[in-house]
Amino acid sequence: MNLLKGKKYNIITFGCQMNEHDSETIAGMLQEKGCIPVLTKEESDITIINTCSVRENADKRFFGTLGQLKKIKEKNPEYVACVCGCMMQQQHIIDTIKSKYPWVDIIFGTHNIDRFPELLDKVTREKVKALEILEDRSDIIEGLPAKRLYKHKSFVNIMYGCNNFCTYCIVPYTRGREKSRKPEHIVDEIRRLVADDVKEVTLLGQNVNSYSGTFDDGSRCDFADLIYLINDIEGLERIRFMTSHPKDLSDKLIQAFVDCRKLCKYIHLPVQSGSSSVLSRMNRKYDREKYLALVEKLRKSVPEITISTDIIVGFPGETEEEFEDTLTLVETVGYDSAFTFLYSIRTGTPAAEYDDQIPEEVKHDRFNRLVDAVNEGSAHRNAAYEGRIEKVLVEGTSKKDDNTLTGRTDGFKLVDFQGDSSLIGQIVDVQITEGKTFSLKGRIVE
Ligand code: 5AD
Ligand code: SF4
Repeated sequence: MNLLKGKKYNIITFGCQMNEHDSETIAGMLQEKGCIPVLTKEESDITIINTCSVRENADKRFFGTLGQLKKIKEKNPEYVACVCGCMMQQQHIIDTIKSKYPWVDIIFGTHNIDRFPELLDKVTREKVKALEILEDRSDIIEGLPAKRLYKHKSFVNIMYGCNNFCTYCIVPYTRGREKSRKPEHIVDEIRRLVADDVKEVTLLGQNVNSYSGTFDDGSRCDFADLIYLINDIEGLERIRFMTSHPKDLSDKLIQAFVDCRKLCKYIHLPVQSGSSSVLSRMNRKYDREKYLALVEKLRKSVPEITISTDIIVGFPGETEEEFEDTLTLVETVGYDSAFTFLYSIRTGTPAAEYDDQIPEEVKHDRFNRLVDAVNEGSAHRNAAYEGRIEKVLVEGTSKKDDNTLTGRTDGFKLVDFQGDSSLIGQIVDVQITEGKTFSLKGRIVE
């Protein structure tokens, strides 16, 4: 008998798109078992917390949420508390959970989410606890179901893991070494998504530029080759990807932006710092000049391209001058948007051992100055869209008002405009009437 049928589940996801997509897979597997999604953990029989370990505040939020599960468990002895994701790939986290949060029933890691239904079944049937973590794996599991968050757009993993070992980053330790899916598997998956009404795919990987797939006949497929293949899929409208490491961005990929109509003219190109000496200590394998030259080359070939980035402030040893190099780089590049982060010590990474950590108040001061510079740049670039007509994929209605539609331009800018919800899933022409710091406003062009 299927004991899971009719059980209510709630997934809480921290972190990046990779985690969001893993949560879609977990939801897909649960729904195959007959489980039903609910909006809050309090109404659920099964809660899954999918964790992120990239920065310390995610750790803190996770343990806070974990604490709240105790009460739910006390009220409902059948309740199953599950944790997974990047944090579970660290032994010290598992030890803390076991000693301080004994109400957790199931722990699994990033390499074996396929095992979750079986673990859940066992825990429900036998009233035991389950812990299964793999350090890494060489194969890729294909064919898992997924319950998409969005009807008309979808994430598609093209590779897993990271080999770069930036000195601040925990990801290579939690997601393992790089592994690329076969191009045929990726294309088949996208064809199935298109048949299910998906118009836009975002190809996911920690460093998609180092994608290296092998066709069934043994020949190689690099990232640009993959884009050309996907661009030929009938019915698909848009292709995006993230994340790109600047060190591996090839001329061939830049040419793909020119040749492939469906490849959106947008790139997320994390710079991390504008100072060559900091970049060297971060082990990023490019310097300020190389990064700026790359941006120039991209803009020369693809003038309309929009660019976003990630920046860390307060990396160990960062001097005021080095930080100012970041400010001037932000000004020189003119980013459309940027994610800004306070450097956060990650146990097990080389930078955690550096003895010249930056005091918190200095980090915060630099962070605020950086955010001001980034926002000023975004507002300026968005203002330049006023009057332009942009193609917008309508994604849904605004949370505040059913008559306001929201969508994204080809360049990934969020746009609000008045319109009927029957347009959801279509690409419409929108004239931009106002460019704000974080979004645009517009009106549909008949
Ligand atoms: N501290 C702060 N930010 C970090 N990131 C990764 N590791 C750290 C860390 N230890 C940021 C990087 C990366 C983004 C996903 O998170 O900017 O590109
Ligand atoms: Fe982390 Fe660097 Fe890999 Fe990105 S490229 S996941 S920052 S180690």
